[in-house]
Amino acid sequence: MQSGGDYTNGFHGELQRDEKQVPVLSALGRAKRRSRGGARDPRGGLTNGELRVSDQISEQKPLETQESPPPCTDFDVAYFHSYAHVGIHEEMIKDRSRTETYREAIMQHQSFIQGKVVVDVGCGTGILSIFCAQAGAKRVYAVDASDIAVQANEVVKANGLSDKVIVLHGRVEDVEIDEEVDVIISEWMGYMLLYESMLGSVITARDRWLKPGGLILPSHATLYMAPISHPDRYSHSIDFWRNVYGIDMSAMMQLAKQCAFEEPSVESISGETVLTWPEVVKHIDCQTIKIQELDSVTARYKFKSMMRAPMHGFAFWFDVEFSEPAKNTNATSVANGSSSVSPFTEGNQKKRSNPSDALVLSTSPESPPTHWQQTIVYFYDPIDVEQDQVIEGSVTLSQSKENRRFMNIHLEYSSAGRSFVKESVMR
Ligand SMILES: C[S@@+](CC[C@H](N)C(=O)[O-])C[C@H]1O[C@@H](n2cnc3c(N)ncnc32)[C@H](O)[C@@H]1O
Repeated sequence: MQSGGDYTNGFHGELQRDEKQVPVLSALGRAKRRSRGGARDPRGGLTNGELRVSDQISEQKPLETQESPPPCTDFDVAYFHSYAHVGIHEEMIKDRSRTETYREAIMQHQSFIQGKVVVDVGCGTGILSIFCAQAGAKRVYAVDASDIAVQANEVVKANGLSDKVIVLHGRVEDVEIDEEVDVIISEWMGYMLLYESMLGSVITARDRWLKPGGLILPSHATLYMAPISHPDRYSHSIDFWRNVYGIDMSAMMQLAKQCAFEEPSVESISGETVLTWPEVVKHIDCQTIKIQELDSVTARYKFKSMMRAPMHGFAFWFDVEFSEPAKNTNATSVANGSSSVSPFTEGNQKKRSNPSDALVLSTSPESPPTHWQQTIVYFYDPIDVEQDQVIEGSVTLSQSKENRRFMNIHLEYSSAGRSFVKESVMR
């Protein structure tokens, strides 16, 4: 189901299908959101191409023995360039929930790591590689295409780990590692889990180097969604225009809605804003997922509001789980949202997916805050829902054709006989 033909001017808005249409507004420039790897500045980038910072490894496999890797586009160059800035690494490393959970996961899996070979996909400053070396890894290949790899190499040297941690400055798709590896570690999750499209590179590393039965950390990831009521946010950005220093500026409201709610918003919400239990949009088993499955993800959902409230949109968040292959069975059967298990079953409506007691890093509104926060897709106009009222529809997340790092969000929702469509792009 697509937006109606009246939607010209490139406006991808929210179409209320069976009632009067939202007026067509021209798309305006947006406030720049601080973004993990989302910078669009195409300056700089991979000046070194596949520079190997480390002098530790020997000759490379001839390129002709391999399938050719996907091209590194200007957008990819800009993406890697954004990771050369110290601020983004500072923010990630200072996110204690993130960094400490990874460290704990590495230490919990020490028996899989000790004396083994590890690849760190997107090593950044090298922090996870160093944790793996501390856990007794025989060798860690720390791969990053961003110039931050130069600093990672310095950090490795300064910590006396150059004999164990080999920094490779290049894309995982391009660098050569002349042995199979036992473990892959990566912090690949973007906002709303799939933004940034980095998981594809982890899959590439898995398919190129991981031994059968090898460990991938994290092992699983699950994206959730839930309807929310957030009147404060709405009144702060929209109702504000009703009375400005005694002047009726409500003529500004339509523009304010367009500017505030056109794109998904990364922000922290409290658990109280959530109207009912979340549903699973996508569950990922990192051992088996295929790159093609990530091109487009569709899930149907059906919520029953637990209270009477104005509904302002949907919140999305994710968790990742760190478990070894033998422990995976339980977790996989719980949250299999978009593909094999219907999202309409009670069993699918879990706040957390941790039945196997595996370590979980959660970005839910009720978990300790992380730099990912939650991602909200706001409606332009709230819809009033009664207690037990059903809200149902579907969501499709697809890689943008314009730039695969961007994500198109197609949201359909119906309630009380009214249907809507909202299209947005996470840039
Ligand atoms: C989210 S950061 C994680 C950095 C570090 N592992 C940490 O936990 O602090 C992701 C890193 O992966 C790198 N990266 C993304 N895709 C890559 C690819 N295909 N090949 C090599 N590096 C990649 C980025 O440049 C970035 O430094």
